[in-house]
Amino acid sequence: MNQAQQRVTDTEGWLEVGRIEEIPSLGARVVRTPAGDIAVFRNADDEIFALRDKCPHKGGPLSQGIVHGRRVTCPLHDWKIHLDTGLAVAPDEGCAARFPVKVDDGVVHLSLAADEGCPDR
Ligand code: FES
Repeated sequence: MNQAQQRVTDTEGWLEVGRIEEIPSLGARVVRTPAGDIAVFRNADDEIFALRDKCPHKGGPLSQGIVHGRRVTCPLHDWKIHLDTGLAVAPDEGCAARFPVKVDDGVVHLSLAADEGCPDR
């Protein structure tokens, strides 16, 4: 997995992750932050999502999973996680925290400010 080597924070607190093509298609790049590792995913439609890099099952690295549609399959025990909500696909239950992302002129930005999406945090 790639890891962001250098990050830039703008005045609104967005971290620059890199250009969209630097994130492996159907994979992820790990961004190490004071809030822990965050996996930034890219799907086949070049949509970008960010989740805590920790599976809600037993903490597997979601960044090493395979992206399919708007889901990622955890590499450890094959749980499927919705990339847009962080929720496990039923019948499994759990949630990986979700982080806001935006793409400006092909550059991906990640926010640590508003960790969203998990009712059980
Ligand atoms: S740790 Fe992810 S499926 Fe078990």
